[in-house]
Amino acid sequence: MLTNSKAWRTLLQHQQYLAQSKLIDLFNADSQRFANFSLRFDDMLCDYSKQHVTAETMNLLLDLADEANLTQAIADLFAGALVNKTEQRAALHSELRNPHTTRVEIKQTLEQMQDCVAAIKHSDYTDAIILGIGGSDLGPRLVCEALAPYKTTDLTLHFVSNVDSDTLLPLLQRLNPARTLCLINSKTFTTIETLTNAKIIRVWLGIHSSHNMWAITANPGAAEAFGINASHVFTFWDWVGGRYSIWSAVGLPVALTIGMENFKRLLHGAHMVDQHFATAPLAQNMPVLLGLLGIWNINFRQHATLCIQPYADGLQLLPAYLQQLEMESNGKSVANSGETVNYQTAPVIWGGVGCNGQHAYMQMLHQGTQVVPVDFLVARRAHAQNQELQQVLVASCLGQSQALMSGRTTKESYKACAGNKPSTTIMFDIITPEIIGKIIALYEHKVYVQGVIWQIQSFDQWGVQLGKDLIKDILQVMSGDNAQNVDSSTAGLLDFFLGCPLTTA
Ligand code: F6P
Repeated sequence: MLTNSKAWRTLLQHQQYLAQSKLIDLFNADSQRFANFSLRFDDMLCDYSKQHVTAETMNLLLDLADEANLTQAIADLFAGALVNKTEQRAALHSELRNPHTTRVEIKQTLEQMQDCVAAIKHSDYTDAIILGIGGSDLGPRLVCEALAPYKTTDLTLHFVSNVDSDTLLPLLQRLNPARTLCLINSKTFTTIETLTNAKIIRVWLGIHSSHNMWAITANPGAAEAFGINASHVFTFWDWVGGRYSIWSAVGLPVALTIGMENFKRLLHGAHMVDQHFATAPLAQNMPVLLGLLGIWNINFRQHATLCIQPYADGLQLLPAYLQQLEMESNGKSVANSGETVNYQTAPVIWGGVGCNGQHAYMQMLHQGTQVVPVDFLVARRAHAQNQELQQVLVASCLGQSQALMSGRTTKESYKACAGNKPSTTIMFDIITPEIIGKIIALYEHKVYVQGVIWQIQSFDQWGVQLGKDLIKDILQVMSGDNAQNVDSSTAGLLDFFLGCPLTTA
């Protein structure tokens, strides 16, 4: 078991020693701390000097990576090895953004997307409803929002993910079926939320449905059985995980919004991180460092959550996106050996936009009982530049991480801030397609690093299946079947929902 390894046991001892120091002491002891604990990659700066680590900590974490044969695992990932062991699949999302790919199907899909973007641009469509949930929603939605300054189309996109009639029906009342596209984004084409919405939209589109409904899926047969014209189906492949699929035709809403050239810039940014991840020495490898720092905080400093706080409204969906990426990938408790792990795995990922978080939850991070590491992300410049606004934004970000680290002693104890709270700050010049591609790829590979070291499967999601199965059972109960097989809580709740007692045998 992992916890018996030499590196793990040494890190436990090291943590006990380091716990006696404070972050501010580490800064006072090393005037070059920022230089020694920050890393630049292209136009990105990763400052991890406010993490509670020393050079010895980093060396011991790298020993842990070596014990896990991380370098080989990285090579396996890019080589298309079946790293998704329980589904016997590769995880080759990196190939989607590789400009030198030899996979013809990837090039063909990019051409199909290009043709679609051009056709829609010269059409009389005014709106597009994008149906999808999880990885079929969060990626397109995040990137469209983040890259709003690059919007080149008059098409208005409406993302619909949940089965909420208060969202869908008022929207349909506002739109013209003749001039509304509906893109059904679903890898499996079996997701109940997406298909339930799609059925309602198909009726609403009426005679326009055969022309206006398109599908993006790894299950084209199901899409055509639903009534989608084969010529309106964009496919991707089972070696692309749903939460890793923005780089595929799932990204079509992005291409429709910002154009194909900017979509390719997004891919290029991610590809640059792929090259860095595949070739940089582990000690100078940004995804590796982020992964190791997370393991240090989770497994040795016992910090069970991670706050993601981007200082840009366009990145407000980043915490939600990373929730799925990290928690659906590494929210596991069975090791590759089949044994239940005896250590923590995925952190609870949460967060919000800065500066707003400072007026909401940051109080707890400064004076609460739990230590919550933070990843701050901030650009030097905005697209619509205003020096005063930008300086307040950046000063706020830097002030928060400084306050978390240094704290403040006051006469009144209730005013004091303990400090000694870790954070990492990722800074870049300005939000561009490349930067968004880099940020997403950075966290994709960080998650992979952690999964390798935790000896868990990062690319499956068997835990969501039970809920999906029970939905079907409860729907049957709602229709009057199987009432006798329901626990009293569910029965009582259903009674309340249905407004009448369930008929139980
Ligand atoms: O949450 C389970 C999940 O399968 C995710 O992994 C996926 O992104 C989402 O549901 C949607 O699945 P699909 O793209 O197949 O509709």
